[in-house]
Amino acid sequence: MNPLNDLLQSLVAEGPIPAAEVMALGLYHPEHGYYRRKEGPWGFDGKDYYTALDLGPLLGQTLALRLEAAWERLGRPPRFTALEPGAGRGWLGRDVLNAVSGPFSEALVYVHRDDNPAARQAAEIALAPFLAANRAQFAAESEPLEPFTGAIFSNELFDALPAQPWRWDGQRWTREVLTSRGPEWQAGEPGAAGAWFAAQTDGLEPQDGSIWCEALPGLVQELASALEAGLFLAVDYGESAGRLLAKGADLRRFKAHSVDGKWHDDLGEADLTADVDFTRLATLLEGEGLAELSQVELSKWIRTHAPLNQWGAQWMALPDPERRSRTENLLQLTLPNMMGSRFRVLEGWKGKKA
Ligand SMILES: C[S@@+](CC[C@H](N)C(=O)[O-])C[C@H]1O[C@@H](n2cnc3c(N)ncnc32)[C@H](O)[C@@H]1O
Repeated sequence: MNPLNDLLQSLVAEGPIPAAEVMALGLYHPEHGYYRRKEGPWGFDGKDYYTALDLGPLLGQTLALRLEAAWERLGRPPRFTALEPGAGRGWLGRDVLNAVSGPFSEALVYVHRDDNPAARQAAEIALAPFLAANRAQFAAESEPLEPFTGAIFSNELFDALPAQPWRWDGQRWTREVLTSRGPEWQAGEPGAAGAWFAAQTDGLEPQDGSIWCEALPGLVQELASALEAGLFLAVDYGESAGRLLAKGADLRRFKAHSVDGKWHDDLGEADLTADVDFTRLATLLEGEGLAELSQVELSKWIRTHAPLNQWGAQWMALPDPERRSRTENLLQLTLPNMMGSRFRVLEGWKGKKA
């Protein structure tokens, strides 16, 4: 018995439902949504997918250096708030807090923002010493954000926002919907999405199409307007708007470490995700006053910002299993065709120019 499948069937009996609404239901239904369950999806055996954080602390250690550089650039303020929306288990915050030291560690306060109950429960454990020392805190998604100086960072937040696939059929836009017969492409009025897609290409070809995340402007506006000055950094998978359009970006389902396009199956019991349109994310951030926007592959970002020679020498002194896991972490995030080449890092700056 899957209560969301039952609900979906009764909704579909009344008419087609856009794929983005199915994704919203599957992930965020208040009781049965995948990200509203008591059990978390992250990890290896018996879980659905892993993130860069399951591979080790390298992402957090490199991020800690970027945050410290931002703190320096801001003139070493006595308080530097680092807000993480979509913080999941709080492992990235934990890895950052473990990596910092000296005066920056006294200024840094990490804020975990994610209403996912499984995430919250795991974060209470991962962040326990930092919560007790008032170096970490929780914020509910419904709580208005007070303006702050510091940074906003996220890992795989934007790919978890409900998104709608659109296709150009040669004459008109069609959108993917679920009907009582199954998934179909039906003519629809794309509004702002159509204008955005058309602006990303010299000419639309049949089967061109991309995904459109309706909630993106609101979330970017909410986050960016709370950041008075500092760094915005997002790690996610996705591509430029032009490339997404040419490849015909779609929704994906992750279950037990395999991936397919069956976004309408096992609702609430499988992850649903979409590529991030990095061109649109950067354009929205620019519109909210962020400057110096840059995007690079995660592997390049790590090679650029982490002092790997120095860290490598330190890892060599660790006991064998620890040394091996650090090396594997490095390879996964820096070798071609591994996670580091599938993910991108977007950075932007708010405040005085460099
Ligand atoms: C793919 S998971 C990533 C979790 C974590 N960052 C990691 O890398 O393991 C996406 C998370 O984003 C959360 N989320 C989705 N929309 C959000 C929003 N508007 N504000 C805060 N969290 C959100 C979900 O509850 C989910 O826990």
